[in-house]
Amino acid sequence: MCGIVGYTGHRQAAPILLDSLSRLEYRGYDSAGLAVRNGTALAEVVKATGKLYHLADKTDQGRALAGCCGIGHTRWATHGDPSVVNAHPHVSGNCSGSGSGTVESDVAGVHNGIIENYTELKEKLLRHGYTFYSDTDTEVAVKLVDYYYKKYKIGPVDAITRCMVRIRGSYALALMFKDYPDEIFAARKDSPLIIGVDEKESYLASDVPAILKYTRQVHYIGNLQVARVAPGKVTFFDLNGDEVSVPLTEITWDAEAAEKGGYEHFMLKEIHEQPQAVRDTLNSLVKDGQIDLTETGLTDEMIREIGQIDIVACGSAWHVGMAAQYVIEDLAGIPVRVELASEFRYRNIPIDRKTLVIIISQSGETADSLAALRVAKERGAATLAIVNVIGSTIAREADHVLYTMAGPEIAVATTKAYSAQLVAADILAIHMAGIREKMTADQVREMLGELATLPDKMRRVLEEKERLQWFSSKMANTHDIFFIGRGLDYAISLEGSLKMKEISYIHSEAYAAGELKHGTISLIENNTLVIGVLTQKELYEKTVSNMMECKSRGAYLLGITTNGNFSVEDSVNFTVYIPKTDQHFMASLAVIPLQLLGYYTSVNRGLDVDKPRNLAKSVTVE
Ligand code: G6P
Repeated sequence: MCGIVGYTGHRQAAPILLDSLSRLEYRGYDSAGLAVRNGTALAEVVKATGKLYHLADKTDQGRALAGCCGIGHTRWATHGDPSVVNAHPHVSGNCSGSGSGTVESDVAGVHNGIIENYTELKEKLLRHGYTFYSDTDTEVAVKLVDYYYKKYKIGPVDAITRCMVRIRGSYALALMFKDYPDEIFAARKDSPLIIGVDEKESYLASDVPAILKYTRQVHYIGNLQVARVAPGKVTFFDLNGDEVSVPLTEITWDAEAAEKGGYEHFMLKEIHEQPQAVRDTLNSLVKDGQIDLTETGLTDEMIREIGQIDIVACGSAWHVGMAAQYVIEDLAGIPVRVELASEFRYRNIPIDRKTLVIIISQSGETADSLAALRVAKERGAATLAIVNVIGSTIAREADHVLYTMAGPEIAVATTKAYSAQLVAADILAIHMAGIREKMTADQVREMLGELATLPDKMRRVLEEKERLQWFSSKMANTHDIFFIGRGLDYAISLEGSLKMKEISYIHSEAYAAGELKHGTISLIENNTLVIGVLTQKELYEKTVSNMMECKSRGAYLLGITTNGNFSVEDSVNFTVYIPKTDQHFMASLAVIPLQLLGYYTSVNRGLDVDKPRNLAKSVTVE
């Protein structure tokens, strides 16, 4: 979703802001803009719709905007269409139709999130003589700050905190005030924002990769806090305007981890990084051959007490939950429900102290998942977050955190974070099974030994990529694809189908293979592609039968199964073999050919693989 950046220091701001915005492109956007201050002069605002290079062209790569303090934004439209006038930054004064130029305003700002009561606030401001040039909730927020700033003749921090009390919804805001030429003021509630500092420079961004090139010293501004950002110096305040301290965190991952490193796309690079992501995650959770979850704070006693697990997540993380359900129930014998966060938060699901709610999230910022976490806590459940981004809001608010070690993931379509989440859930299932005496110590050891073989087996699956590339080139004109499987294979199908549709724009659906005949089979026509996931021994023949039902209605069949299962070739048209492993861990291997199919199909269709239309990496609005 929207990306925010800011810079104040001794260098020209605009080129730095453009560079930082380019590193937030993965979040998804449809327009962009900059506001730059030159000493005491007013802010100069430039905006453009479409890709960031339009903004770069309009500003001569930033050179046309002089000044050492500025803010920038990529906008993913929520209120108002993706036009120049609706693009950020927004200002407290009036703007020309183009929304660009030197602007006579006391306040200019950028925003990520949604202000739910913006209509009510807008009416209040209209009554006080304000006029509005855009359809955005952000313009309302900026003008509300301006209103309090002037009415009470207070400083920026107090004006912002007054607004924070009035605004309902979520926001990360970066604001510049005319009277404070080299400072940026920031505020945050439920939307991500970080502040980086160097000796004489300060940076703001929605995410670490945007500023990693410039500094590794980062403050994670807390929820409902305000920051006053001067060159090389940041001060934080709470809602009362009292100063608070926010620790400085050193980012340890390499800046190169957020670069393409020779690959054509981030997605392909991240697909290849999966063995490492899995190995790193396993190494962080298994020490000297034993599962060690002490850092999560989950005790053996707590695990013995669990009566019910609710896994809550969105998108691919929800698919991990679907896979984890089979593994946890089968190994640890604990009942598991898997819920979409956007549904869970509004349902009155019975939860008690014996319920463990597990929130799975790569970013740790997904608005629905965060809201679900808060609902679970309010209702008295213990909460565990499986999160990739260290210091993210979900990680900070959950009772217990288990970090995956996938490193920064840039492509919108997740791959390595999904794989890291899967093994984290496997470890959790084995650990719970051991503690609840569903598995002996020997069985636990054996399972851990098998998990340790996954990275090498994943590498072997990756070696098959040319065959998948060839197959994708044949299916670039396909209209519909069905992914089917039973049990864990159904969970894998869900992820395979999402990978395909989100980046190739080909309609696809995942179905529990046995359910297909209850309606969906009527969609099968000559040459409809049906992909069967066939990794679960007891369910293999059942799914093959369902595939044959499709074949006899004209479908073309692709089967994904384990090495040596050659009889599958009697039934399906094209087979992909993956190495054998314990059945519980099959998702980690079977998902890779499906990711590659989605990837190559998108490439063959000439699409923007890393930044598919309408999607955002981190969905910070409801
Ligand atoms: C977006 C992304 C998906 C992701 C989902 C949940 O829709 O495009 O790839 O699975 O959000 O994100 P999270 O960061 O909570 O895992």
